[in-house]
Amino acid sequence: MDPIIDFINLQRDRYVEELKAYLAIPSISALPQHAGDVKRCAEWTADELRRIGMQNVRLIETPGNPVVYGDWLGAANAPTILFYGHYDVQPVDPLDKWISPPFEATVRDGEIYARGSADDKGQIFMHFKAIEAHLKQNGSLPCNIRVFIEGEEEVGSTHLDAFIRDHKAELAADVVVISDSPMLERGVPSICYGLRGIAYFQIDLKGTDSDLHSGSFGGAVANPAFVLAQVLAQMKDRSGRIKIPGFYDDVRELRPEEREQFRQLPFNEKKYRKELGAPKLFGETGYTTLERVWARPTFEVNGLLSGFTGEGSKTVIPATAMAKVSMRLVPDQDPGKIADQFEAYLKKVAPKTVELSVIRFQTGQPWMTDFDNRHVQAAARAIERGFGKAPVFNREGGSIPVVSTFQQELNVPSVLFGIGLPDENAHAPNEKLDLTNFHNGVIASAYLYEEIGRLNGPS
Ligand code: BES
Ligand code: MN
Ligand code: MN
Repeated sequence: MDPIIDFINLQRDRYVEELKAYLAIPSISALPQHAGDVKRCAEWTADELRRIGMQNVRLIETPGNPVVYGDWLGAANAPTILFYGHYDVQPVDPLDKWISPPFEATVRDGEIYARGSADDKGQIFMHFKAIEAHLKQNGSLPCNIRVFIEGEEEVGSTHLDAFIRDHKAELAADVVVISDSPMLERGVPSICYGLRGIAYFQIDLKGTDSDLHSGSFGGAVANPAFVLAQVLAQMKDRSGRIKIPGFYDDVRELRPEEREQFRQLPFNEKKYRKELGAPKLFGETGYTTLERVWARPTFEVNGLLSGFTGEGSKTVIPATAMAKVSMRLVPDQDPGKIADQFEAYLKKVAPKTVELSVIRFQTGQPWMTDFDNRHVQAAARAIERGFGKAPVFNREGGSIPVVSTFQQELNVPSVLFGIGLPDENAHAPNEKLDLTNFHNGVIASAYLYEEIGRLNGPS
């Protein structure tokens, strides 16, 4: 392995320059005006896979954005990794909060700032460079690798489940590797063994046909903005518990041993609160912050829209009110069942003074695995070799819906080895990736392929 690691260490500057080019493509999947950029980013990803020596590289069309596929299957009798990631990124607004432009990657204090740096282009690029190092130095990889990069993760991976069902043979593997999550803390490399699921909705309330003069009509009709506030207020009680009937029926309670494991992790609640700038933390009574974020479900309002919000004042009763809401789910909650329960409750609590309509957006299953399996242990060894420190095992509050699909449809377990940081500003202004973590991550990934390759034959 030494020549490979030496090679990697000599290439640091080139890696950063190439990553800047990748980050310059505004592949925002949520915005139709960026459809061309999304396509261009898929092509850039495919070209990169060809440059690093992958074979059978191609874009595969879906009803949405293309999937990028490439493989190297020359390691006879060695296991196969399915490497998954996403080349699409989140929108950048509010743009005026960015210190440097989101698509002109800029290095400051050892961190590279750009939309997609942590989520997820920087993390997938780390694996590309590890693959390249093996192929350029040795002409081969120690295990087989299929690279599978999608372009719709940030909008719910709408077409991916069907894609996976239709391409089972092409995706056959022994283990899925994903780098799309943060580490617990700076200097604390981590393997993530659990993700929350999600169910996302839009609620629309309509009162009257048009906005009304609030003096002439105020008192005679319900105000949709006020009704929306009342409806939302009935979703949670004061202790943070969600009031949707049946919501907690399938929640797997934390085992005492797992709570103890959480307590052993290096997590400083005071520092956490300060970094968030929150006056006070808040969450479900009876649970610690890590438990609340990793192992308990939530109900959140993601956005609200109604009435007059411009400068100054305007006396008006809005005709409509809208809210985007989502629930994060934990094992063994089922997003479909939760969606039905939520809609039934919403219909019950919404008064007849407004017309209610609900749109269902994306859903994703929660996911959890045990971490004493040989793939996770191989990853732990690789991370220790790359970072000089054994990883901790953590859960995360975010969602990667495809992870449970890999398990269910392909029967392949996943290893989540993320190198982001909690303050990476994913989905927010000034997203960044720590370059030391990136470079250690390239080395750890190179070791990971060796460690997986050593697992002797397909499992
Ligand atoms: N990389 C994140 C998922 C993530 C976030 C994992 C934090 C672990 C910790 C991913 O790109 C993401 O943002 N997923 C969405 C999924 C949604 C659009 C269905 C999410 O979690 O909001
Ligand atoms: Mn991501
Ligand atoms: Mn994301």
